[in-house]
Amino acid sequence: MPISKIIARQLENASWIRRMFEEGTRLKRERGADAVFDFSLGNPDVEPPPAVVDALRRIVAGNRPGSHGYMPNPGYSEVREAVAKKLRRETGLDFTAEDVFMTVGSAGACNVILKSILDPGDEVIVLVPYFSEYQFYISNHGGCMVPAETDASFLPDVERIAAAITPRTRAIIVNTPNNPTGRVYPESVLRDLQAILARADQAITVISDEPYKSYVYDGQKQPEVASHIANTAICNSWSKSLGLPGERIGYLALSPQLEDVAGMRRACAFSNRILGFINAPAIWQWVMMETADETIDPAPYEHKRNVLCDALAGIGYDVRRPEGSFYIFLKTPIPDDIAFTRLLADEGVLAVPGAGFGRSGYIRLSLTIPLDRIEKSIGGFQRAFLSSLRQEI
Ligand SMILES: Cc1ncc(COP(=O)(O)O)c(C=O)c1O
Repeated sequence: MPISKIIARQLENASWIRRMFEEGTRLKRERGADAVFDFSLGNPDVEPPPAVVDALRRIVAGNRPGSHGYMPNPGYSEVREAVAKKLRRETGLDFTAEDVFMTVGSAGACNVILKSILDPGDEVIVLVPYFSEYQFYISNHGGCMVPAETDASFLPDVERIAAAITPRTRAIIVNTPNNPTGRVYPESVLRDLQAILARADQAITVISDEPYKSYVYDGQKQPEVASHIANTAICNSWSKSLGLPGERIGYLALSPQLEDVAGMRRACAFSNRILGFINAPAIWQWVMMETADETIDPAPYEHKRNVLCDALAGIGYDVRRPEGSFYIFLKTPIPDDIAFTRLLADEGVLAVPGAGFGRSGYIRLSLTIPLDRIEKSIGGFQRAFLSSLRQEI
């Protein structure tokens, strides 16, 4: 049976991380795992905190009656209230359980809100460079992705965003701390964004995708997007903050300031059901009710960031030190990021070309690799840097 033309095209576009994975498997087979340094995947390399595992054990042992059955599509009301309480504290807004939908990760939350607001041909602005899955999430619901370049330091460029708005614009996806750039958007940028959106002729939803919110360094904090932008839908998960990406647990929260929030609640509950998720995993909802405020300590990632950024700058790379998430978006010494990724792979170092995030001339390095592996990889970064300069000449 032939696959659809859309999926065939998307498979081609989505192939960078898969290609790096295949390259890594080949290199490990040929050279041994010790000679391969995999910076390509954003999979937290630490175990969930003990409090989470304890809560899981307690909840499984309790095996309360009915705990494996269907539930209201948005999730258990007690769990939704626990998330609403956390959001009230963090944002100062009057979130209630009704505004919260337990979802299959942040990816699930993004799909639920997009499904709820898009008609075919509607446009969603995405800031470049972007998490590559956004293009597929938007297309899942008939939408068109409209890329808007960020400025030289990867902050949203409000003039470009204003120029990208058309009568079909329904949403803009904001992701801070950012994958792939590690940028943390300051309050001033969020305020400017609110000013631009307030001037638009139609309501534009800000989809604030926040799975890296707990990974902010140098004693800073991520300003709350929903506190500064009225029309916000928050997508979040415990995938990164608790090292649980395989458990698929997250939430969508509609700001009480959102336009037609009552209609939107009905739409999101329905979308959660018809997308095939039906509801988020039951046991993990109860675990999150008890441990929603736990986070993995970001300090080891901050240390790895410092070690790698310092080493790369010492070699001669043009390094921008990320303020958050666990990625470094590194300018390649030659404009062709794909050619440079190959030079690194020759040295056993795996990175994802910026082209996969809509911005060539960069590579993304994930800090979810152990510190000793980072230290051992530095020689490879140095040799690839020197070879690229020789190729330039
Ligand atoms: C920016 C961004 N959004 C969403 C996701 C999906 O996360 P989740 O596991 O919560 O679905 C990821 C995962 O890497 C991500 O980087």
